[in-house]
Amino acid sequence: MSRICYLNGQYISPAHASVSPEDRGFLMGDGVYEVIACIHGHMADETGHLDRLERSLKELQMDMPVTRESLRFLMREVVRRNRQKNAAIYLQVSRGAAKRDFAFPDADTPQTLFIIAYDYDFSGQISPISVKTTEDQRWKRRDIKTVLLLPQSMAKQNALDEGYGDAWMLDPEGYVNEASASNAYIIKDGTIITRPVSHNILKGITRTAIEKLCRDSDIKFEERKFKPQEAYEADEAFNSSATSLIVPINNIDGHDIFNGKRGKITELLYKEYRAYADGLRGEQISWEAGL
Ligand code: PDD
Repeated sequence: MSRICYLNGQYISPAHASVSPEDRGFLMGDGVYEVIACIHGHMADETGHLDRLERSLKELQMDMPVTRESLRFLMREVVRRNRQKNAAIYLQVSRGAAKRDFAFPDADTPQTLFIIAYDYDFSGQISPISVKTTEDQRWKRRDIKTVLLLPQSMAKQNALDEGYGDAWMLDPEGYVNEASASNAYIIKDGTIITRPVSHNILKGITRTAIEKLCRDSDIKFEERKFKPQEAYEADEAFNSSATSLIVPINNIDGHDIFNGKRGKITELLYKEYRAYADGLRGEQISWEAGL
């Protein structure tokens, strides 16, 4: 079956879809995106992702391209037309095509809206991975989910080339910001520790849900910075994101964590988060920038 995506009002095969070469997303990375998991037909954390999309756009002086209701409909329609039950939905909005200029074009320039759904297997927990710490080379507004992803892509590729599963990116003082496309956590003496929200990191929708689930189930959730040295001595560690959900980390820079196995609290959190993401709790957590 040929795949169908949505681009600017059309349901079309990606092979035949085209965007202007003057699109500012292409020329300048002038766009934002979201990635939403569709698990057994349930859009996990949809409300939070749309909250963050609206906020990312606002920070770049853009409006929502269509209403929230239309976005919800379009995502479901792409999944329906592809007969998908499990998918990672990618949604991108750029400022649209205009004569190349550093100043923003007129506000009535039509935005580009692109939605595609990739088949995704959510059947089991992802195996533990190792991470390598590395300098964070991104710009200073990491709280906005822009399509400027080259530093993350390079960090991930360098980690893979050196035999690790992902990178943890460090701020200039050597504290862990986050992973290439996930938030980063350690667990010590039963407390989950992750960096406080700031312009340094993207405030994950999954992170927001994990925080709420921890508070609901009396698991201690502490927001503070930590360095790799502390992480090497942690009881457990994990990453979280919309597509990978919760990924156990069994090694950081060559130091084994939890004897190289999947940690117990990480396992418990995964089960809790899975019940929520699968829609079994019947709730959707909203998201606020918190800055
Ligand atoms: N990435 N930090 C960064 C830098 C990210 O790119 C992501 C998500 C996260 C986690 O956010 P959330 O829980 O809302 O997915 C944190 C997505 C999955 C991506 O770029 O594919």
